[in-house]
Amino acid sequence: MDSMRIKGGKPLKGKVRTQGAKNAALPVMASCLLLKGQKMVLNNVPSLQDVETMIALLETLGVSVGREGSRLSFDVPEEVSWEAPEPLVRMMRASSLVLGPLLARCGRAVLPLPGGCSIGSRPIDLHLKGLVQMGAKVEIRNGFVHAQAEQLRGRRIYLDFPSVGATENLMMAAAFAKGETIVENTAREPEIENLAKTLRAMGVQVDTEGAGCIRIKGSGEARDCVERVIPDRIEACTYLLAGVMTGGEITVEDVVLEHIDALLAKLEEAGASFSVGKDAATGEKSVTIYPVKKLKPLSVRTMPFPGFPTDLQPQMAAALTLSGGVSLVEESVFQARFLYAAELNRMGADIKIKGDTAVIKGVEKLGGASVKATDLRAGAALILAGLAAENETRVENMEHVLRGYESVDAKLRALGAEAAFEADPE
Ligand code: UD1
Repeated sequence: MDSMRIKGGKPLKGKVRTQGAKNAALPVMASCLLLKGQKMVLNNVPSLQDVETMIALLETLGVSVGREGSRLSFDVPEEVSWEAPEPLVRMMRASSLVLGPLLARCGRAVLPLPGGCSIGSRPIDLHLKGLVQMGAKVEIRNGFVHAQAEQLRGRRIYLDFPSVGATENLMMAAAFAKGETIVENTAREPEIENLAKTLRAMGVQVDTEGAGCIRIKGSGEARDCVERVIPDRIEACTYLLAGVMTGGEITVEDVVLEHIDALLAKLEEAGASFSVGKDAATGEKSVTIYPVKKLKPLSVRTMPFPGFPTDLQPQMAAALTLSGGVSLVEESVFQARFLYAAELNRMGADIKIKGDTAVIKGVEKLGGASVKATDLRAGAALILAGLAAENETRVENMEHVLRGYESVDAKLRALGAEAAFEADPE
């Protein structure tokens, strides 16, 4: 079940519903560790490998997790373990999100230092620096982070980079700190507001009014809460790009327009057209993308939100391989996020990597090939290319894609694609 075979060249048509956001679900799930003898209910949780890994991690720490469709419930005992197990942390970097809440509630935490991954070195120094500023003693011994703090203290913390994970970890740690914590130069991704809303529902005072500045008043206790995961902006945009690349007409349901503005603006600049709909009963928004003959070439630079998301960079690059000219795609968030380029070139794309920039010369058509997903979003880019390519494409190592895209094969088939899982070749 590790490859996806795609017969490309068919315009995709129809409606697809956005899943709950992976990157919002994971920190909100980790925040349940702030509860003691209480329960959190979380709606709209996507069914993904990364969510399974976070469930397994929380269960190892002592939380009972229940599931009913896309609703998860977390029963958190009075005492939980403060040691995150190595295999689960190694499986998913976002496991490091348990550090802040564990330290806050247990007074200590042990976490294997997450290693690098295929898109860059990805240290957690900013998370640790913030915790130290709040009074934690942090040591790294034999590849493990040992953090200890009888009582974290509210502080003014300036992040050297608006790291998503560091912002989330510090918000959760600050929920139990004594006094007010002010974090400056924070990430502003929509996932941060989803976590802030959850903490507020637990009774923590969180003020996110100042752009890039978050104030948290530690409460020392948290109460039962019910929350909902926001729609996944990266998944929604990936399906919009599937429409663009196949010359199809796709309606993506359940989107928050402000979350996907960067892509919509770029698509407009490239000559694509779309319309916005609103469900009269629920108020939910949808976007329909219309067939476009050829995209104009673009310059794209990834940036922290509200800039163009790095998690959409490979998929956008895939779309630009078929544009009518030379595009420049600059990656400014991660160091090594171009591993997909060689695979796309095997399909007939013309991409040259110069430092942080991919120089993409548009070609007339792509041709099917066997290609390997090196990471989650690289895999999504290869699927998009396969949908647009002539003949058959086989995307291997689909386990990366299943970390972030729910029922990707079924959703594509519902849009008219010929796409199916099969075993990787030996
Ligand atoms: C999150 C997302 C990931 C997305 C990324 C950037 C989750 C689960 N993952 O990852 O999909 O691609 O945001 O939008 O939400 N950095 C440091 N030191 C640190 C922390 C980060 O140098 O302590 C660097 C990283 O190496 C990277 C950059 O900052 O170059 C951005 O990382 P960060 O925003 O922290 O991303 P994650 O939270 O890991």
